Amino acid sequence: MRRAENGGINKRPDMKDDTIITNAGRDPKNNFGIVNPPVYHASTIVSETVAELQGKRAKRWEPGVYTYGRQGTPTTEALEQAMAAVEGGWRGMVVGSGLAAINAAVLAFVKSGDHVLMVDTTYGPARNFCNLFLGRFGVETTYYDPTIGTGIKDLIQDNTKIVYTESPGSLTFEVQDIPAIAAEAHNAGCVVIMDNTWSGGHYFKPFKHGVDVSVQAATKYIVGHSDAMLGTIVTSEEHWRAVRTSVGQCGAPSGPDDIYLGLRGLRTLSVRLERHQKTALTLARWLEARPEVKRVMHPGLESNPGHELWKRDFTGASGLFGLVLNETFTDDAVAAMLDGLELYSMGASWGGFESLILPTRPAPFRTATSWNETLSIRIHAGLEDVDDLMEDLDKGFERLNASD
Ligand SMILES: Cc1ncc(COP(=O)(O)O)c(C=O)c1O
Repeated sequence: MRRAENGGINKRPDMKDDTIITNAGRDPKNNFGIVNPPVYHASTIVSETVAELQGKRAKRWEPGVYTYGRQGTPTTEALEQAMAAVEGGWRGMVVGSGLAAINAAVLAFVKSGDHVLMVDTTYGPARNFCNLFLGRFGVETTYYDPTIGTGIKDLIQDNTKIVYTESPGSLTFEVQDIPAIAAEAHNAGCVVIMDNTWSGGHYFKPFKHGVDVSVQAATKYIVGHSDAMLGTIVTSEEHWRAVRTSVGQCGAPSGPDDIYLGLRGLRTLSVRLERHQKTALTLARWLEARPEVKRVMHPGLESNPGHELWKRDFTGASGLFGLVLNETFTDDAVAAMLDGLELYSMGASWGGFESLILPTRPAPFRTATSWNETLSIRIHAGLEDVDDLMEDLDKGFERLNASD
């Protein structure tokens, strides 16, 4: 198989998102007519002559050049091309997990003595990476309010290299003004990294809004079936080399079968997200009207403080949102509610076809902003029938009230 010649599909302004999702990174004409790219299992990739070996090494990061399994194969490149096209960036990279993508992207731009501005609502392990890993090497992190907007400029120091964003925020779903933050970051020469997992790269186009490096836990919506770990990074042309170098040095590739699952999941991203969106919004509206619920944290709700920004910058909402129950309920009552659910499982991750529910405690993860409620609940609306999902929650509320 040759590399997909249509990998540069993102350069075609006439192509709509659904067409890109369906086609990017695959090329049946150069693959015996077979629709999907082959899964190459490889460590060693041999050369016939010294000249060929040296030639490949010199061009090892160019498209279509393969030198060693860890550096990627045509299978890897297929997903890299596809993700760059979907997110509208220059080139993509694939690594072993979303966290590996975050780590490699951040490490590309910092050295000892540098400073990172990190959104206070970042995914917890990204926070741990900054505090417990970067901190050991003399890289300082300051956390900022996700709603800071242009105010970010007051926090930028001479040694600030990265402004890291995630929108909506993990657990609490604040929407960030990414264009405003990016403009200030760029004025000061900083790189803007965004965790774009929530939108799947479909409902938020990072490079149109000033992001330089977009990371995704492709484990979630790209794979979409809760059966593989995968991270992707897409960058602008300017930042590709730095991140590619970092990815190469971190050495955390994904396996070919997981990459294939990412490619396969990607083809249905848009239709799955449409359904996740519809179900999540229906649940969110229904929950908002429940007397047991204090607040629903879903940017698609008109009542949400980030709703206007979301409407301006996003073209849709995925299936993940949160809620806060009235404080009168005890932890035991909440446990009784959650324990008896039939259609929602409790577990880390999200973005698969199945519904999930998780009690969360955002407060300990905040330093720049305060979070006053002790307990919140995160729901991932899966692809089940929404009436069944509501009925299951309804019975959960009965148990909540009965245990109180
Ligand atoms: C927003 C976000 N980013 C990154 C990650 C990390 O992804 P992974 O579990 O693939 O390492 C997660 C995982 O839950 C996440 O929710």
